[in-house]
Amino acid sequence: IFQVAAATGHTVVLVDQSEEILKKSTKGIEESLKRVTKKKFADKPEAGTEFIEKTLKNLTTSTDAVAVVHSTDLVIEAIVENQEIKNELFKTLDKFAPEHTIFASNTSSLQITQLANSTTRQDRFGGLHFFNPVPMMKLVEDTPGFIVNRLLVPYMLEAVRLFERGDASKEDIDVAMKLGAGYPMGPFELLDYVGLDTSKYIIDGWHALEPNNPLFAPSPLLNKLVEEKKLGKKTGEGFYKYK
Ligand code: 3HC
Repeated sequence: IFQVAAATGHTVVLVDQSEEILKKSTKGIEESLKRVTKKKFADKPEAGTEFIEKTLKNLTTSTDAVAVVHSTDLVIEAIVENQEIKNELFKTLDKFAPEHTIFASNTSSLQITQLANSTTRQDRFGGLHFFNPVPMMKLVEDTPGFIVNRLLVPYMLEAVRLFERGDASKEDIDVAMKLGAGYPMGPFELLDYVGLDTSKYIIDGWHALEPNNPLFAPSPLLNKLVEEKKLGKKTGEGFYKYK
């Protein structure tokens, strides 16, 4: 989100909890920018270098959200998928942000009204749901309902259940969906890519709202992996291992 906003000419401040995380994120953005540029400016390498330099100039980082929000027009929150933690953050930022500042949440599953109600700016609050990898994916959802995740998350959980029952290996399920349905990634690869914690928080939230809906039933295997901090690509291991 940070990268795309900067590449389209916006001055952006990325805020996170530690300098270490910010360093890792910036490095990831530099690498992703290089990939985008290689394609976009394939026959104009100089224009590509200029594009990277210009984009990086729009980027700064901070660990102090309150200090940053004083001079911000738009806040896009993309923290952990937990209603209380998000509400707490918005409540704090609401006190320090200018009157005109618009708040948006990149929530994957929570109700925007519930989040907006933690602030005094319900009329300047929206949902802005991006997809991974943001520089490549063409969709941003801003209407209630979360069409993609409403279909995608139960599908991924069904794949885990299929595997848990011993009906097929995760490798076979992934290959089958790639070859048979033309998906770029199989469900286990995608779960690892999205993050097992995020997937679990989404399903847990929906399960709490509709405990009898079998599509939202929690998965013991997913819960176990999250408990073991095997959260997918970002931690080096999820359903698969990464170097
Ligand atoms: N940044 C910039 N460019 C990237 C990129 C990134 N992070 N990842 C991939 N690319 C681009 C590059 O241009 C790359 O070309 P390169 O190899 O020359 O660098 C090109 O994509 C092709 O990438 P790969 O060869 O590595 O692999 P693929 O052809 O499989 O494409 C993919 C990668 C675009 C990630 C593709 O596998 C894909 O579309 N996967 C499905 C993603 C998906 O379903 N996302 C939605 C997840 S749900 C979600 O996010 C919602 C949340 O709320 C849960």
